Amino acid sequence: MVDLAGAADLGQEHIDVAAVLGQIVDDAQASAAAEIGYPGATDLDHRPVMDRLGHRLWNNIGDPGDVGGVANTRVLERAVVAWVADLLAMPTNDRWGYVTTGGTEGNLAALYAARRRYRGARVFFSQAAHYSIPKLVRVLGAHGVLVRADERGEMDYDDLAAQLRRRRRSPAIVVATAGTTLTEAVDDTDRIRDLLAEHPAGGHLHVDAALSGIPLALDGRLRLDDAAGIGSIAISGHKFFGTPVPCGVVLVRDNVRTRGKPIAYTGTSDTTISGSRCGLATALLWHSIAVQGREGHRWRAVRARELAAYAVEQITAVGWRAWRHDHAMTVVLDTPPAEVLDQHTLATDGAESHLICMPGITRTQIDAFVTDLAIAAHRPTVPRPRTPADPLRLTTTY
Ligand SMILES: Cc1ncc(COP(=O)(O)O)c(C=O)c1O
Repeated sequence: MVDLAGAADLGQEHIDVAAVLGQIVDDAQASAAAEIGYPGATDLDHRPVMDRLGHRLWNNIGDPGDVGGVANTRVLERAVVAWVADLLAMPTNDRWGYVTTGGTEGNLAALYAARRRYRGARVFFSQAAHYSIPKLVRVLGAHGVLVRADERGEMDYDDLAAQLRRRRRSPAIVVATAGTTLTEAVDDTDRIRDLLAEHPAGGHLHVDAALSGIPLALDGRLRLDDAAGIGSIAISGHKFFGTPVPCGVVLVRDNVRTRGKPIAYTGTSDTTISGSRCGLATALLWHSIAVQGREGHRWRAVRARELAAYAVEQITAVGWRAWRHDHAMTVVLDTPPAEVLDQHTLATDGAESHLICMPGITRTQIDAFVTDLAIAAHRPTVPRPRTPADPLRLTTTY
């Protein structure tokens, strides 16, 4: 066992590099079985890409549609963007997108484009929106409007309507979430589209679909066709696709997207938020799609939801409150006792926690969690040792 903090100190004369790297891998492996609170799938084998491409730089600098520049994986990026856009039924003549560093960059690229298209737009987002949204509103120097969410995490459309009415003269950008971080709630984009259609100053509907974008698209429940009225979407790549490198995909209607300047020395147009972009991540996404296809991914989503339903059944069977949305891989439960949280890594927000049955999580892991929860929940509370009464009541304070 290496003392990581000491061994990794770069100010030392000698660093045992192998020992430090080995310890980091060992630590990650030791905690992996107990990690049931994170939304990263772990069932896919990415070694064919890591082994062959993981040893050099793949820099997809510039617009994915450009063919200039250095060796890169932009040809794979175009394939990934086209596959995701097709899955979402996005019109072929009105689509554009690229592979991002993750959901946050996707949200930024979409909101940036929408703000340039709708000058002075207010950005409406719900209380259950991811923390990146209010942060990006600040980054863009925009005016944000917080909309209520219900106790299961879905946007309150009456409140949205009221907030829109109060700002009739400004264009509106509404951020819907498809899979909120804590409960995996999905906002109703049809209702939001209808409210936006009545908004006199017009606006844009963006969907933050970091977690649930791909599973919902595979169900046909999330579409970006003309009827949907959705202008942009951001999806994470390391969540459902489980890539071992953070990444994502952003798609924007071509009529909204940001037109970039041609940059002479890169030989490409500057249309993306990041300049240098990770071509390895693109290859990993491409590989996951090429190997699994729609059917493989649909099956993964079905299995994950079945396991989530099983988890709710088992947790409630031991007398603990748990629930999930019908489409969800996320199970929401009352926060377990501390001794359970010490052994199983959940995501906890005060009185509520969640576990996520991402592809790769097994029944064995759920069963181990439920066993520990049942023991802790039914352990009789140990009576506190009685302190003998203080006859003079000198030490008692009220
Ligand atoms: C709803 C939602 N949006 C955005 C993000 C941010 O994604 P990333 O961490 O890939 O930037 C997350 C991450 O958990 C999320 O749950």
